[in-house]
Amino acid sequence: MEQSHDSLVQKIQQLKKQRNAVIIAHNYQRDEVQAIADMTGDSLELSRKAAATDCDVIVFCGVHFMAESASILSPGRIVLLTAADAMCPMAEMIGAGVERPLYGTFPGYKDPPKYIYPVNYTLRDIKRDYPGTPVVSYVNTTAEVKAESDICCTSANVVEVIESLPEGRVICVPDRNLSAWAAKNTKKEVISWDGYCHVHDRVRPVDVENARAAHPNAVFMAHPECRLNILEMADSVASTSGMLRFAAAAGAKEFIVGTEIGLLYRLRKENPDKQFYPLRKDMVCPNMKRTTLQSVYNSLNEMQHVVKVSEEIRETAWKALKRMLSL
Ligand code: 13P
Ligand code: SF4
Repeated sequence: MEQSHDSLVQKIQQLKKQRNAVIIAHNYQRDEVQAIADMTGDSLELSRKAAATDCDVIVFCGVHFMAESASILSPGRIVLLTAADAMCPMAEMIGAGVERPLYGTFPGYKDPPKYIYPVNYTLRDIKRDYPGTPVVSYVNTTAEVKAESDICCTSANVVEVIESLPEGRVICVPDRNLSAWAAKNTKKEVISWDGYCHVHDRVRPVDVENARAAHPNAVFMAHPECRLNILEMADSVASTSGMLRFAAAAGAKEFIVGTEIGLLYRLRKENPDKQFYPLRKDMVCPNMKRTTLQSVYNSLNEMQHVVKVSEEIRETAWKALKRMLSL
């Protein structure tokens, strides 16, 4: 049965205490979900912060790979994903080896063929084709893919991670746009997987031109999951946490926000004297929006949906994450 907003919030707070839980919400979550969360942030930041608490239960308002990261960092705790079917389509675009990816080639994408791989090509296949080439996996990957990787990266540190490796060539998965951005900023050769985030990949130069025309004094911030031609038009290229820092520190008063619109909640809340405009109003991740107050309540009430990475996968995935964190 649907419950009123206030009574749901109250019940969530009661259950949270009872379960000794922390509620963590990604920056792309609905406003009302971010409002009740104990912490908001990017996925890795949240998993790290939750691991540092003394909670028994981590309620992750995000998508599946994020809950997996929390499970990798907090193996002794119960990790709940608030919406069972919230997955990241980009993370699902690459399979580790045994299983098959959901996607292979991408109709409508006309960029260099070196990015196109046949259906059923997996990370193990690409490793076999480029022996001795280290794999850098974006945190937006499954635990299995992380476990097949040498090191992880975030959208903020991809270049630093690539530069830290002794090899002159790297394999970057799964985001072709993040790879293109990294390739532009390093002298190393970057072999990319052909994955993409449909929320960011849909942006076209005309969207930037329209937004700039509507807000001529605004600074344009773009997330590196956007295509390279968009990033080249930006005043700042940053992860969601990077955008929050940039907007707070900048002297500018107006900003065009080139990422999922959920970030506007914190940008506006933390900078009440500044104006923020979405680059496109349809930059909405449906999977992030699957979490609602009702699903947070159900999650705590029923202790569902538990995400637990097997010890075998966790050990190797943790190595790749730890190597990045040690930089
Ligand atoms: P960050 O919050 O790490 O910038 O990630 C963006 C994203 O797409 C998460 O799904
Ligand atoms: Fe995945 Fe993009 Fe949604 Fe992030 S915004 S969860 S990368 S589909």
